[in-house]
Amino acid sequence: MSKQRSSSSSYNNVFTLFLTFHVVFLTFACFCLASVAGKHVYRSKQQGSCNMYDGSWVYDELYPLYDSSSCPFIRGEFNCKKYGRPNLRYLNYRWQPSHCDLPRFDGKKFLEQMKGKKILFVGDSLSADHCESLLCLLHASVPNSNVIPSVNDPVTTVVFKDYDVSVSVFHSLFLVDVEDEKIGRVLNLDSLKNGDYWKKHDVLIFNTWHWWYRSGASQPWDYIEDDKKVMKDMDRMVAFRKALTTWANWIDSDVNTETTKVFFQGISPSHYNGTDWNEPGVTNCAKETEPISGSSYPGGLPEAAIVLKQVLSKMTKPVHLLDITTLSQLRKDGHPSSYNKYKGMDCTHWCIAGVTDTWNQLLHASLILD
Ligand SMILES: *[C@@H]1O[C@H](CO)[C@@H](O)[C@H](O)[C@H]1NC(C)=O
Repeated sequence: MSKQRSSSSSYNNVFTLFLTFHVVFLTFACFCLASVAGKHVYRSKQQGSCNMYDGSWVYDELYPLYDSSSCPFIRGEFNCKKYGRPNLRYLNYRWQPSHCDLPRFDGKKFLEQMKGKKILFVGDSLSADHCESLLCLLHASVPNSNVIPSVNDPVTTVVFKDYDVSVSVFHSLFLVDVEDEKIGRVLNLDSLKNGDYWKKHDVLIFNTWHWWYRSGASQPWDYIEDDKKVMKDMDRMVAFRKALTTWANWIDSDVNTETTKVFFQGISPSHYNGTDWNEPGVTNCAKETEPISGSSYPGGLPEAAIVLKQVLSKMTKPVHLLDITTLSQLRKDGHPSSYNKYKGMDCTHWCIAGVTDTWNQLLHASLILD
């Protein structure tokens, strides 16, 4: 099997660009060490005093935290208000944990505390959804500060120049590699070649899930390789677990979590089967304008969320699970539906502003407040 990445030249360009940044950021390495060392508590503290992921959605006139029309970072898929969504009530919901309050997002403080640091989201379009929400939240806090956007496939970056903070998203559907071989495209469950680039960042937020069950024309690989055996297909949940384990082993062996904080963005739910929310017969989110009240989702946790927790529980290094599955399941009203640039029915992504702002409030709470 060839070990060359198919788009290695574009990768090298990105690498060169970021090498330059890296030299600059090395100057700040002492700050990283000072502020991050010995901070394993950031995982247990929240679980000990308050589980922020257990709660319910409450209507709050003070939300949303920004006007999406003044945010320049939202792609057409997520810009529901711009593409005519008539009912905007989904913007006014705030996540209320059962046993504590979620701190209000303070973008200026976030940027000041992250000075000199590089934040990288890695994953599919749900990572872009998460990242663009963070960019909007930060931009709304410091609307007049200098921002420098750049695209260098597969990485999109925005630098908040006055704060020396970069926020990037690295497009990766599976975290493990898909390689062009003679026989076709091979999804290799044991190979994770982009890790050397990823681990140079100070904060990493990973996600993969939504592409694992693709088949037919939208399946972006022809063969699957596991433990040196190449096959046409295999049980997809087993494949997902193996890839996550490859990722977890890489974190445990290669990532210095004293200087790089690692998050996993939990499984983001879709809403195409009304049986899950006690509306049998409903096959999408088109008519949904209200969250589900209370703290539990009738459909229960998806199996992927359970597999993810099992893999994370076996790791030796600290990884914070942004456990957004249940709180997002309650937001059947939070998807673009047909109010997006492409008009197709989308009950997978999330409108910006919206649910992903809450994911970022949770990220902010874990990064800044401990
Ligand atoms: C919706 O979910 C229910 C319960 O899991 C299942 O029995 C049903 O087949 C699903 N419907 C569709 C259209 O997939």
